[in-house]
Amino acid sequence: MTYSKIIGTGSYLPERILTNADLEKIVDTTDAWIQERTGIRQRHVVAEGETTGDMAFHAAQRAMDAAGVEPGDIDLIILGTTTPDLIFPSTASLLQHRLGLRDVGAMDVNAACTGFLYALSIADKFIKVGDARRALVIGAESITSLVDWEDRQTCVLFGDGAGAVVIEASDEPGILSTHIHANGEHAGLLGTDVGVSRGFREGEKNAGIAIQMKGNEVFKVAVRTLSRIVDETLEANGMDRSDVDWLIPHQANLRIISATGRKLGLSEDRVIVTVDRHGNTSAASVPLALDEAVRSGKIQRGETLLLEAFGGGFTWGSALVRY
Ligand code: UT7
Repeated sequence: MTYSKIIGTGSYLPERILTNADLEKIVDTTDAWIQERTGIRQRHVVAEGETTGDMAFHAAQRAMDAAGVEPGDIDLIILGTTTPDLIFPSTASLLQHRLGLRDVGAMDVNAACTGFLYALSIADKFIKVGDARRALVIGAESITSLVDWEDRQTCVLFGDGAGAVVIEASDEPGILSTHIHANGEHAGLLGTDVGVSRGFREGEKNAGIAIQMKGNEVFKVAVRTLSRIVDETLEANGMDRSDVDWLIPHQANLRIISATGRKLGLSEDRVIVTVDRHGNTSAASVPLALDEAVRSGKIQRGETLLLEAFGGGFTWGSALVRY
């Protein structure tokens, strides 16, 4: 049996940091409210002219360096993003050229905050069936470009960044399983109400594009759904929750992360948390957290990691990984 194995991780955060104190000057909010309700203290924001592709480029290079591979070794690139540089060509296509890869398959996947797990799931399948040996999988977002800075309910939540992994075919596990899901029934609870074929609003800033979210309702569905996917993932692998060494969750809200950690019976120091410093970076949050935990030496080879995410769509997904 062929598995895919993570052989390198990388990430990138823009230089500019926006603290809660900075936000207090922009909207009617307080550092205390943001920390209590979300766990966020600060987030990184792209510089003028800096794009999703720029961040993805740096994260990908770092992942390739960590993996010890050359551009010519990569034979698939998949990028999870909701905030591509252009409508088309895909940001993955732009990256293929910029990274100096061969003319390998390149695609963007839009699954909102679950984008990286969707991308990883697809790349894993390509490797399992033998259509690729090494894949570059990235989650990158300049999600603050979709933020209405006058809306205190959303502007305090988001941040920008990118994370990447290189996965390679291996006889040993590896990625043990991936699960992806979507249900568009409640699309109106989280997303934008403008777009290419529905049209944009004339004369509005950012062509009227801004994230709209009924936070409270999303929160409840997220906690319930993530609990279900933990069960689904463990059951599919015939594993018990005590078999999981690390939870690497989507970083939307510390209260949601803690609820999932409790569900797994994991002590707090076995849950990777970056939301306090990164905010919600959408598709970038899981690979960013993974890379940080790997580079800090927390995560060791041979340990079992549960990656999970929930986001607009709704979409949700998981990956169980023997690192
Ligand atoms: O990444 C994709 C998935 N997204 C998520 O998982 C996000 C899920 N949702 C959440 O994380 C939380 O619902 C939020 C952090 C967005 C909001 O927290 P909450 O505890 O659900 O607050 P709420 O929306 O119920 O609002 C409570 C109060 C309201 O005031 P009233 O009506 O009680 O007077 C809001 O107007 O807090 C008020 N509020 C704020 N106050 C200060 C909302 N935003 C702010 C703010 N500063 N920034």
